[in-house]
Amino acid sequence: NIEQTFLNKTTLITAGPTYEALDPVRFIGNHSSGKMGFAMAEEAANRGANVILISGPTNCKAKNENIKTINVVSAKDMFAEVFNYYQEVDIAIASAAVADYAPKIIADEKIKKNDLNFTLELIKNPDILLEMGNQKKDQFLVGFALETENEEANAKGKLKKKNLDMIVLNSLRDNGAGFKGDTNKIKIITENDIQEFGLKSKKEVAKDILDSIQNILK
Ligand code: C5P
Repeated sequence: NIEQTFLNKTTLITAGPTYEALDPVRFIGNHSSGKMGFAMAEEAANRGANVILISGPTNCKAKNENIKTINVVSAKDMFAEVFNYYQEVDIAIASAAVADYAPKIIADEKIKKNDLNFTLELIKNPDILLEMGNQKKDQFLVGFALETENEEANAKGKLKKKNLDMIVLNSLRDNGAGFKGDTNKIKIITENDIQEFGLKSKKEVAKDILDSIQNILK
């Protein structure tokens, strides 16, 4: 039964930004609000899933008691928490806006200003979703893509490269889509199909994404 796809299923969702510290008071971050991930967590829990929500710093609060929220700060923290749970997960949705790079050195003391120029060395963070794809057994794995050019081709490339079952594309070119607001406009891409949706509240978008997952898993 399609309505039961999420019932008692363990669903892992990553959400929000990551913060990468430079020193005790500064970080590199991004504008992700976490709203899309939290909306999917509520919707999955409403459908009977046991949700593990691993989130970077946001102002969102999970309401449903079937959501276990794990707060993390950096990409490395998020990576560690994801792989504490990944083997027991039925469905995994990576919606976090994970920082691609982190400062190579976190200074123990606040960095002082003195020279005109300041160079910060960054090193690549682990790609959490790529590793989920590599370790995938029976999990249904969903990624997100935010592209500014060649959107569909790039998203399809990520679907393959990261061994995903589905990728949700949001475009920064659409008004009201993406990062900060309460609305989003998406395309859902699988190996053989592209489905385009109109501008909707993130709550409605969460329903569309979960409906699509149900349609495939039913
Ligand atoms: O390759 P790109 O960063 O555009 O892929 C976006 C997708 O990969 C999102 O689902 C995001 O949550 C995930 N991701 C991740 N770890 C990273 C970078 C991206 O899980 N370090």
